[in-house]
Amino acid sequence: MLHEFSIQFSNFLLSLSDAVDMANPQIASHQMRTSFIAWKIASAADLPEDRIERIYLAALLHDIGALSLEEKVQLHSGFERINVDTHCILGEALFELSHLLRPAAKIVRHHHKPWKAWSEPIHSPNVLESQILYLADRLERSIARDKFILHQTTELTSKMASLSRSEIHPDIVDVFMQISSHEDFWLDLVSPRLYSLLLHFGPFRQVELYQKDVSSIASIFRHIIDFKSRFTATHSTGVAECAVMLAKCLGFTDSEIAQIEIAGHFHDLGKLVVPNSILEKPGRLTKEEFDIIKQHTYFTYTVLNTIGGLDLIAEWAAFHHEKLDGSGYPFHITAEKINIGARIMAVADVFTALNEDRPYRRGLERKKIEDILTSQVANKSLDELVVKTLLGNFEEISTKVKSKQKLSQEIFEEKFLKVKDAPGLKH
Ligand SMILES: [Fe+2]
Ligand SMILES: [Fe+2]
Ligand SMILES: [Fe+2]
Repeated sequence: MLHEFSIQFSNFLLSLSDAVDMANPQIASHQMRTSFIAWKIASAADLPEDRIERIYLAALLHDIGALSLEEKVQLHSGFERINVDTHCILGEALFELSHLLRPAAKIVRHHHKPWKAWSEPIHSPNVLESQILYLADRLERSIARDKFILHQTTELTSKMASLSRSEIHPDIVDVFMQISSHEDFWLDLVSPRLYSLLLHFGPFRQVELYQKDVSSIASIFRHIIDFKSRFTATHSTGVAECAVMLAKCLGFTDSEIAQIEIAGHFHDLGKLVVPNSILEKPGRLTKEEFDIIKQHTYFTYTVLNTIGGLDLIAEWAAFHHEKLDGSGYPFHITAEKINIGARIMAVADVFTALNEDRPYRRGLERKKIEDILTSQVANKSLDELVVKTLLGNFEEISTKVKSKQKLSQEIFEEKFLKVKDAPGLKH
């Protein structure tokens, strides 16, 4: 029997921040390092704790509106060539969806707004916070990753000094100049121990999250994962709803049902490391491309499993490509290690994929879906009882899944596609 769980907010946030950036060595830890810089400046400026926490929260996930890996890399190295404002607007919209992130939404919206574009005084709500994040982000992106940090500090500090007044409020640059004269600031910033350092000494270290809070953030992450591609824009929504329906039919408790929904929202978390060029490739993948896809459930598992307190959710989420006979990937576990939650997720994933429209085909009709699921039971891929439960409640489950997916599609079109497709957005 499962009980209501609680996990550490700081560990949860740091893990998700890390997951968003682990796709590419060029951007690895960008948000975490940015949040360290922002936290140090805000603390040195003696801001009250709640303002420091808001800045830190915004910084940890400030680029989540850059949905594809390609866009994230461009934000780092091809800044001039893209519309920077798009990911700020989408980031704000994503932050607005959770009561835990909402207080930092406006900071995310304005993290690329230079000081000269502000008309409000620096101490107005969100202005100082956004400006601190502006400096932190500019600084982090200016660090050469192949050069020893203490050999770059003169160059980096003079670059920040040159932004004073036009780009960044001079008081913030002054505070930065004070902290940047200490070598330990720079050494911490690039330390491989930064995660641990922030976990033990950073903001939110005493804050516990409960199931409803984790649900609220998982539900945003499903959009971050799904909205990467318009072809899978509602996939995790569908998988989560299908898993919830199956869990209900199979007698799960309310708490277990809430947890399987979280697992469904996170099941493809590791897809954040897969480039869209592979995710959206029409036609067959090469072996090398499929090897890249195969990492995704590995990352789903390690990111969730190392948070502490989410062990079972990690298994339910990450074993959805495992098969009962051990021929799945990437763990190759067999029936005795695949628990009922993971079996449900595997069926929910296959069902949702067959049932939804893809760029190269419409959703399959019921008879075809039934045949495929039945054959996957026969070849020891999927669980027999779970498939029977799905087929026995087909219409009800299919209708519920489609109506949830419709809601997500509306959010995608209203809040995301309109912004992404808008020509010439500026600050
Ligand atoms: Fe950004
Ligand atoms: Fe950034
Ligand atoms: Fe998957």
